Amino acid sequence: MNGTIEPMRVLVTGGSGLVGRAIEQVVKEEGGEGEEWTFLSSKDANLLSAEETRKMFEKYRPTHVIHLAAMVGGLFRNMRQNLDFWRNNISINDNVLQTAHEFGVVKVVSCLSTCIFPDKTPYPIDETMIHNGPPHDSNFGYAFAKRMIDVQNRTCFKQHGRRYTAVIPTNVFGPHDNFNIDDGHVLPGLIHKTFLAQKEGAALHVWGSGRPLRQFIYSLDLARLFVWVLKEYDEVEPIILSVGEEDELSIKDCADAVVEAMGFTGDYDTTKADGQFKKTASNAKLRKYLPGFRFTPFKEAIKETCDWFVANYDIARK
Ligand SMILES: NC(=O)c1ccc[n+]([C@@H]2O[C@H](COP(=O)([O-])OP(=O)(O)OC[C@H]3O[C@@H](n4cnc5c(N)ncnc54)[C@H](OP(=O)(O)O)[C@@H]3O)[C@@H](O)[C@H]2O)c1
Repeated sequence: MNGTIEPMRVLVTGGSGLVGRAIEQVVKEEGGEGEEWTFLSSKDANLLSAEETRKMFEKYRPTHVIHLAAMVGGLFRNMRQNLDFWRNNISINDNVLQTAHEFGVVKVVSCLSTCIFPDKTPYPIDETMIHNGPPHDSNFGYAFAKRMIDVQNRTCFKQHGRRYTAVIPTNVFGPHDNFNIDDGHVLPGLIHKTFLAQKEGAALHVWGSGRPLRQFIYSLDLARLFVWVLKEYDEVEPIILSVGEEDELSIKDCADAVVEAMGFTGDYDTTKADGQFKKTASNAKLRKYLPGFRFTPFKEAIKETCDWFVANYDIARK
C-alpha cells in the first residue's frame, strides 16, 4: 500500500440512452471528488462483439461498471422480435459481465426490469420472485435474457466472490427517451401522439383499453438511486427501484396527465393489445434502506418530460 486512494473509474454502458443520460446529469450535479465517469454509446463499442467490449475495458480500466446497454423496446416491438431480444441481450450481458470479471472490476450494477417477473404471480412482486415461473408471452425473449443477468451475478459471486448486482426499475420515463410511437414504451409514445394530434388538430387515439396499471419512475429519480446502489448497496441479490404500490396508475391516468401537461383534450380508442394487466411491485426493500427518499411527483415529472420533448422535438429519438 502506498497510501494513495485509487480513483473510482466508472464505466456506464448504454450511457447515451434514457437512463444513462439521467445518470450523467445527476453525476454532473452531485458527483464526488476522485470519481471519473465515462458514458458509452454503441458508437464507442458494439457490445455484441466480445472483442470490442474487451477493447473498451482495456481503454478505460474501470473499477466500477453501470451496465445499461440493452436492446430495449415497447410491447409491440417485443412481440415482433422475441428472438432478437433474447439473442442480442444475452450476448451483450455475457460480454460485459465476463469482461468486467476478467478485468477485476470491483462492482457491476446491471439493470433488470419488472416486466421480467412471472406472468402468473401473487402481488405485490418482490425481489425473491424473479425465477418463479414463465414471464408474459409478449416479451419472453427479453425477460429470460434479463433473468440470466441475475443467474450470472449469483454464480460469479459463488465462484469468484464478485459482488455484482442488479436493480429492477419499474417503467422509466423522462428526457432522452425513445419517443417512437410504434417501437417505444407507453408514456413517450403517448407524449409523441398527443404532440402530433395537437399539431394536426386531430383526435388522440390511445392504444389499448386504458385500464392496465403501471408504476412509473422518473429517470432522474432512478439515476439518483442507481448512484446510491453503486456506492452503498452491498447485496448481490437485486433490489426493486420503484414508487410505492399506492402510486400505481392506469394508462388512462397517464394519458390524462400527458393531455393536461400538453394542454390537449381528445377521445380514446381501444383497438390494440393491452399487454400484462398489472405488475405491481413492492418497494419495501428500498424503503428499508432509504425511508426518506423523495420521488418527484408524477405530474411534475410528466410536465418536465413533455416540456423537454416539445423543446427538443428535432433531436428527440422518434
Ligand atoms: N425504459 C424503461 O422503461 C426501462 C424499464 C426497466 C428497465 N430498463 C433497462 O434500463 C436499461 C437502459 O434502458 P433505456 O431505457 O435507457 O434504454 P435506451 O434509451 O433504449 O438506451 C439503450 C442504450 O443501450 C445502448 N446500446 C444498445 N445496443 C447496444 C450495443 N449493441 N452495443 C452498445 N451499446 C448498445 C444504446 O446506445 P445508442 O444510443 O448508441 O444506440 C443506448 O445507450 C436497459 O438495460 C433496460 O433494459 C428500462
